[in-house]
Amino acid sequence: AYVIAEPCIDVKDKACVDECPVDCIYEGPRTLYINPNECVDCGACEPVCPVEAIFYEDDLPQDWTWYQQVAEDMFEREGNPGGAQDHPLAQDDPKIEAMPPMNE
Ligand code: F3S
Ligand code: F3S
Repeated sequence: AYVIAEPCIDVKDKACVDECPVDCIYEGPRTLYINPNECVDCGACEPVCPVEAIFYEDDLPQDWTWYQQVAEDMFEREGNPGGAQDHPLAQDDPKIEAMPPMNE
């Protein structure tokens, strides 16, 4: 699946959301999360992110590979909500919550 990494935190441009044909990019308080169980790997989201936060899982920069686990953990907890527009996430992953503010 595709993965949203660090540059999205506290930015949340959301251009990616409009591109996704299966509505699998879920919004949390500080970042968005692609549900790896719903993503069909179409790749439409990747080029539209203005801060280049989106990567195919195998192409994640080494420092950001853990964002794949963050996404997997998120939807292990949440299940497959079945559509991001109607299911915002109330809480971020604990590892995201622990990140310092990124928009300063
Ligand atoms: Fe985030 Fe980029 Fe989407 S900043 S919300 S991954 S367009
Ligand atoms: Fe959607 Fe991006 Fe996957 S547009 S289907 S999250 S590759």
